[in-house]
Amino acid sequence: MEKKITVIPGDGIGPEVTREAVKALQGIAQRFGHKFDFDYKLMGACAIDQTGVPLPSETVDAALDADAILLGAIGDPKYDNNPEAKVRPEQGLLQLRKALGLFTNIRPVKTYPALRHLSPIKEKNADNTDLVIYRELTGGIYFGEKKLNEDGTTASDECTYHKFEIERVARLAFEAAMVRRKKLTLVDKANVLETSRLWRKTIQEIQKEYPDVTVDYLFVDNAAMQLILNPSQFDVILTENMFGDILSDEASVISGSLGLLPSSSIGNKALFEPIHGSYPQAAGKDIANPLGTILSAAMMLDHFKAHKEADLIREAVAWTMENGFVTRDIDPVNFYFTSTVGDLIAEYVANELPVKINKRNIRMGHVTII
Ligand code: IPM
Ligand code: MN
Repeated sequence: MEKKITVIPGDGIGPEVTREAVKALQGIAQRFGHKFDFDYKLMGACAIDQTGVPLPSETVDAALDADAILLGAIGDPKYDNNPEAKVRPEQGLLQLRKALGLFTNIRPVKTYPALRHLSPIKEKNADNTDLVIYRELTGGIYFGEKKLNEDGTTASDECTYHKFEIERVARLAFEAAMVRRKKLTLVDKANVLETSRLWRKTIQEIQKEYPDVTVDYLFVDNAAMQLILNPSQFDVILTENMFGDILSDEASVISGSLGLLPSSSIGNKALFEPIHGSYPQAAGKDIANPLGTILSAAMMLDHFKAHKEADLIREAVAWTMENGFVTRDIDPVNFYFTSTVGDLIAEYVANELPVKINKRNIRMGHVTII
């Protein structure tokens, strides 16, 4: 298999975590005789600093030409705290989603037995969570007309949905439910919003094509509560852009570490990125958790239909966790560096680790097989 991958490291910890995911992919390439060609491009605050715009056209062109895109994270506090800023790193990501037609964002959330003590919700409630959020990504309030009146005292953001935008993401969500536990929950605010009523109506129509799937409807406020009270009740959650943004952050902490969770955004192209943000406080310190990005690389391999390879990455990740080779967010006392965890995973997938590992040497930053 030969694939062209555009890598967009982005800001903050983005470059560090993408480096580890690239290592894992290189390990896979070596083991299975694949060829991955990595092409690095700018987006976000780093792109604004170097080119004046958050998404240079060169990045879009490369992404359009690639088989897949691997993204680290974007964002910088110097923009977050300045509502007057005319250019913002996030605009780059939104423009890229639109340019690549990435209309569905998929965020799986699973609990790992080894991490159950880290979950902010009671262990018995968090146990057995295995859900996936299908979030519409190129419509709704994110992309509606934005207005600010002349004296700057009234602002509005329009929320529009077209039926076709709902149908295409809904079909993907139903397909996912069919190969999972066959349960789909539409989250909306149909008691208030016209767009939500269009979502409900459209889903009720599509449901007829999938008679095996049980469909539930939840208002978003209730869904936010149910996710904390009883997350294991969910299988596939389908929702619009902004509700999905909020609920997926909420759901992501159930597993105990935001740093673990991967995501994919699909449509005309496919982009893979961790759920976490750019975590500027940790940038350059080699302490960020690379697993979310490495697991995103596994999702990319699944997208290439390289399922054996994807499973091997997941096996390597599970192995590092079971053996305590984890970053500081998971174990603040006995922790390993970002690059060390990445090296171990790359070695595992390339060479069939583990044989026997000398933990002390690993802690010193060397991966030594004895
Ligand atoms: C996400 C992020 C983005 C979003 C931001 C950075 C624009 O929060 O991918 O969830 O809101 O979609
Ligand atoms: Mn978000």
